[in-house]
Amino acid sequence: METLLKVGEIIPLPKILDTRGNLSFAENQSHLPFEIKRAYWIYDVPGGTERGGHAYRENTEMVIALSGSFDVLLDNGEHIEKFSLNRSYYGLLIPKMMWRTMVNFSTNSLALVLSSTEYSEGDYIRDYHEFLNTARK
Ligand code: TYD
Repeated sequence: METLLKVGEIIPLPKILDTRGNLSFAENQSHLPFEIKRAYWIYDVPGGTERGGHAYRENTEMVIALSGSFDVLLDNGEHIEKFSLNRSYYGLLIPKMMWRTMVNFSTNSLALVLSSTEYSEGDYIRDYHEFLNTARK
């Protein structure tokens, strides 16, 4: 069995502190190990909702809690790690082939996701057993 990937990594993003309000940013190459092909965001999440429940074959992502907080559970087929995101200057880098679930969204939370690929339903693995079989190949 090949060595499984690290489940995820918190990347500190630049923080420009200013009395007028703080500013953070993320750039291709400097902060992301991929070129951004797509951005999407998740918002107005009702309390108790679970999102995700899938893995991507190729897509790598960075998730940023722009507002509020939520937890991201990452599973590489061998172990699960929980990342609690609640600061807009930390990005969670999620390599491809991680089973990911997003839970515990606070009221008015806003999740920004930067992706290495354009949307493709064919890139999703939505069946957990298929994920385990693919991850352990
Ligand atoms: P999905 O990725 O399953 O949501 P989550 O992981 O947050 O639970 O996407 C939900 C729906 O939105 C699904 O029908 C596909 C569609 N979608 C797009 O059309 N484009 C996108 O970039 C994304 C992320 C989803």
